[in-house]
Amino acid sequence: MSEADPVQSVRDDRKTAAIAAQRARVSDDADIVPRFSFARDILRSPHVLQAGAGADQVKVDNPDHTSVFFLDGELHHRRRTQLARYFTPKAIRDRHMLVMERSTAELLGELRASGRERLDLLSFRLACDVAAEVVGLTDSNPRHLATRILNTFNSLDPGDDGKRGGLKNALRSMYHTGRFWWQDIKPAMRARRGQDKEDVLSYMVAEGYSNKAILIECMTYATAGMMTTREFIVMVAWQLFEKAELRAQFLAGDETEQLAILDEILRLDPVATFVYRRPTEDVVCGGDMAKADQLYALDIRQANTDETVTGACPFSIDPERAKRQKIAGSWLSFGDGAHRCPGSQVALHETRIFIDALLRLPGVRLANVPEVTWNERIMGYELHGAFVECDVERNGG
Ligand code: HEM
Repeated sequence: MSEADPVQSVRDDRKTAAIAAQRARVSDDADIVPRFSFARDILRSPHVLQAGAGADQVKVDNPDHTSVFFLDGELHHRRRTQLARYFTPKAIRDRHMLVMERSTAELLGELRASGRERLDLLSFRLACDVAAEVVGLTDSNPRHLATRILNTFNSLDPGDDGKRGGLKNALRSMYHTGRFWWQDIKPAMRARRGQDKEDVLSYMVAEGYSNKAILIECMTYATAGMMTTREFIVMVAWQLFEKAELRAQFLAGDETEQLAILDEILRLDPVATFVYRRPTEDVVCGGDMAKADQLYALDIRQANTDETVTGACPFSIDPERAKRQKIAGSWLSFGDGAHRCPGSQVALHETRIFIDALLRLPGVRLANVPEVTWNERIMGYELHGAFVECDVERNGG
């Protein structure tokens, strides 16, 4: 896409900007950071603390067993080093890709047999299969695991007004968490006693994590890895079904070109809206001062479209952009610095594999666009209810 093209200069390919403008909000005491360089430098600073998702209230009774998300400094660095081996390019190629391909084949087989399936249900099952393999939740029925995780997650949702709660909700949440614990986590833990299966759960069992710590970490991965990837896959499908030229470019592209397209789609509609940090001392970030003890909400959506780094036409999909601007193609979509998403390559590859296979199905089409809704708890968009259709595969062909 040419920078000088006047049509491009007014183009806006974002799908969720309107709902985010309406619904995204931060806590009253937070300063919003819309500038890319300021946000990136905060994330990269060694003098900031994780301040997202209730980090202030997390009781670190045993820091060795606190979720990686809430750790900081040396403890966090050590934990990330220990977990890194489950996310290396080799682990992705040798192990996780097999699951991505097997799950994609199974899901698309169902689509070919029925001719019509709900896209968000397919993408969630894929995301669950893959994250379950990374975490080590592999000793229960994967279909039931996906449902139990979804029920557990939804039971923790405060609802649109943010106020639903009370005894009924607490009981509902206990019930679903209990089922997830007994039917998925426990069998997986048993299978890993004395046996390293090279996954996060094996590590936690070997290290003697408490039951509570294991449950929390499994939920962290479920939220961080499954719900996010579910939305991402639907977003990519929506954009590529809609844009014939981009679709052709994706299908003709090699792995690097395909990943550049995915990165660019995520730049415009990042699944994570805000990440939070609190500096422990004054820090110079992007030429400005981030103040000690101030809570900062880094606005990924705005930072990713900051024209000073994106160049012209910040709202249009342009897979050449990152290369031209000499910047990492993931922008801030997966965060940056010490807490940068360890699962980013997992998410990108599973999306690439699934979407590539989906778009090649005979007669494939998007029957209807998804409904865009907003999840108050994670402050992010959700895309539900889109159906994909394709030619039905008759027996034997
Ligand atoms: C499109 C999909 C995904 C998106 C948009 C995403 C986004 C993010 C972001 C923005 C962060 C940084 C949070 C912060 O700095 O406060 C993060 C952290 C994290 N993500 Fe992802 N993620 C995705 C997929 C995954 C997957 C597939 C996994 C694992 C299987 C995963 C596991 C994690 C974990 C464990 C953390 C916490 C890391 C830490 O605090 O050190 N994510 N993710």
